[in-house]
Amino acid sequence: MKKRLLPMSILLVSLLLGLCACGNGNGAAAGGQDSPAPQEATADAQEPETAVKEEETIENEEPAQGNTEQESAVAGTDAAAVTQAAAGDTAAAADTASAEAAESSAPVSNALAVYFSRVGNTDFPADVDADSSASIRVDENGLMGNAGQIAAWIAEEAGCETMEILTEDAYPVNYNETVDQAKQEQNAGFRPMLKADEKAVEDYDTIYLVFPNWWGDLPMSVYSFLDSHDLSGKTVNVFVTHEGSSFSGTVGTIRELEPDAEVLEGLAVQGASVTDEEQNIRQWVIDHKN
Ligand SMILES: Cc1cc2nc3c(=O)[nH]c(=O)nc-3n(C[C@H](O)[C@H](O)[C@H](O)COP(=O)(O)O)c2cc1C
Repeated sequence: MKKRLLPMSILLVSLLLGLCACGNGNGAAAGGQDSPAPQEATADAQEPETAVKEEETIENEEPAQGNTEQESAVAGTDAAAVTQAAAGDTAAAADTASAEAAESSAPVSNALAVYFSRVGNTDFPADVDADSSASIRVDENGLMGNAGQIAAWIAEEAGCETMEILTEDAYPVNYNETVDQAKQEQNAGFRPMLKADEKAVEDYDTIYLVFPNWWGDLPMSVYSFLDSHDLSGKTVNVFVTHEGSSFSGTVGTIRELEPDAEVLEGLAVQGASVTDEEQNIRQWVIDHKN
C-alpha cells in the first residue's frame, strides 16, 4: 500500500507545484496562449510583405512608363533602357520629321514676291467700307487687296519680302470707273507710269508675280513692270486672282515677254474665296522650293 501511495503523492506534489507556477503568471505557458505578441509579430512580418508588393507593383509599372518616356524623348539620354531597334526607328522618324520641317521653313533662295492690286493703287478714303467689296480687306497694316494677301502668304512661306507695283496715278475709287479705265488702257496698249521700285528686282533669282485678272489679261501696270525689267535666267512663279476667268492667257503672255525666264504657272485664286485658299497657296510654295 505504501508502495502505491508514493507515486500518488509524487503526482499530487507535481500537481501542486504546477498550480503554483500558474499563479505566478510565468510567460512560458502564457506566451503559448496569448495571441497579441504573435499577432504583432505576424503583422510585423506582413508589413514588409505589403511594402514589397507595393514596390513590386511600382516596379511592374515603372518600366512601362520608362519606356514610354524614353521612346517619346528620343533624345537617348537613357538609351540603355531602349532597345536599339526602337531607338533606331524613332531616331529615323525624328530625322525625317525634322528634315521635312526644315524643308518647309527654309527660305526660297533669293526670292521676292511682287504684286499689283487695285487696292494699293487707289486712294480710298479712310472710312472705306471694306465689306462692300470682296477685293478689299482690312488687316493690322490697313487695307489689303486679294493680290496683296496672296503675296503676303507667299512671302511668309518663302521667307522673302514683298514689293508692290505702284502706278504714278491712282485708279478711281469707284469700282466701275476703274473697270472702264482699265478697258480703255488695254485697248490703247497704254503703259502706266510706275513709281520707283522699292527693291532691286534684278538681284533676285525667284520672282513670285501676283496680280488680278483685268479684262482677261494682265493689268497694264504689270506690262509696264515687265517692260522695265529683264527677268532672263530667273524663275517667275505666276499667281492670278480673278472672279471667274482664272489665268486667261496671262502665263503664255509672260513667257512671250520674258523668253529667257522660267515661267511657272502658280495658282489662279478666286478673289471671293481667297481666304479658303491660304493653305493651297502656302503648299504650292513649299512644293516648289528650289
Ligand atoms: C478693272 C478690272 C477688271 C477685271 N476683269 C476681270 C476679268 O476679266 N475676269 C475676272 O475673272 N475678274 C476680273 N476682275 C476681278 C478681279 O480680277 C478680282 O476681283 C481680283 O480678285 C481683284 O484683286 P485685287 O483685290 O488684288 O485687286 C476685274 C477687276 C477689275 C477692277
